[in-house]
Amino acid sequence: MMVNRNILTLDEFTIQQLRQFPKATGELSSLLRDIGLAAKRVNVEVNKAGLVDILGDAGSVNVQGEDVKKLDVYANNHFMGVLKHGISCAGIGSEELDDFVVFNDEVSNNSKYVVLFDPLDGSGNIDVNVSIGTIFSVYKRVSEKGKPCVKEDFLQPGNRQVAAGYVIYGSSTMLVYATRRGVNGFTLDPSIGEFSLSHPNIQCPEYGMFYSVNHGNFFRYDEKVRRYIDGCQRKTKDTGGPYTQRYIGSMVADVHRNLIKGGIFMYPGTVDKPKGKLRLLYEANPCAFIVEVAGGAATDGVQRILDIQPTELHQRTPLFIGSKGMMDELELYLQAK
Ligand code: AHG
Ligand code: MN
Ligand code: MN
Ligand code: MN
Repeated sequence: MMVNRNILTLDEFTIQQLRQFPKATGELSSLLRDIGLAAKRVNVEVNKAGLVDILGDAGSVNVQGEDVKKLDVYANNHFMGVLKHGISCAGIGSEELDDFVVFNDEVSNNSKYVVLFDPLDGSGNIDVNVSIGTIFSVYKRVSEKGKPCVKEDFLQPGNRQVAAGYVIYGSSTMLVYATRRGVNGFTLDPSIGEFSLSHPNIQCPEYGMFYSVNHGNFFRYDEKVRRYIDGCQRKTKDTGGPYTQRYIGSMVADVHRNLIKGGIFMYPGTVDKPKGKLRLLYEANPCAFIVEVAGGAATDGVQRILDIQPTELHQRTPLFIGSKGMMDELELYLQAK
């Protein structure tokens, strides 16, 4: 099979973007290159899973109260490592770490950005060979350059993101990232070991045929959410359906499918967990940024995800995200008396 070698690599693409801004420092390009490198390392390990001792539990419980998997630890260390060794990042926050980490050396203290990430999304799917991912979110720090970064740098609302993206380790490995200028997708070309621009300028279709939700929790959802889900199941040709239910259990994979094909993903609050499960800073904000730049929408059922002022690093939020037309319809259900 011929591989198209005329397409831009991730590095070529970010440099091309940089050239349009003569005053840009190149720190964001460098940061994306670092993230791309960590993604390739994690990808190699994911592909070997089952052959080497990388499956299963690490034997600890994280700050979220979840059993940590070996790949969670591996991915966390690699993403943190490349960002620490790079020149663009002053510190990080991670789903897997109790607190944010200040790199605190001369170069890092002069860096422009902080990064928040979910190193391995869909941990529960690792052992059964189902798509998993990594999600990241980039903010310009608000603290003074030259000094170590501080908590306020990490607790900025999602609308202040400079860039956000995810990697999906799926049937092929892709890196998708957004800046305010657009969303672009890069597929890892194994023959050259580079992410190559395969999905330029991704636009989320206004409507789609997919709805993604954990049906097992149905009776723990609010009545309005249940009515909406019921409505999804009753869609006929005349009302824009029938919808197909798809729920992978790796948010990255569900959001990615809906971004490309059109659809809606929901992780609502439940009776026992009113804020749901997903983390605002590592999961909801970056995905909301990407989907909004692509023309979609994301809310917590009451307000826009990107306008929430975070108060804690690990705070959770209900999440509804996807195609704009479908999100508008959902809102009618949520606002109904
Ligand atoms: P993580 O593996 O990073 O902890 O995230 C898992 C999340 C998300 O990827 C997925 O959509 C959701 O958990 C699935 O949760 P349920 O099994 O409760 O549906
Ligand atoms: Mn987890
Ligand atoms: Mn996750
Ligand atoms: Mn995770």
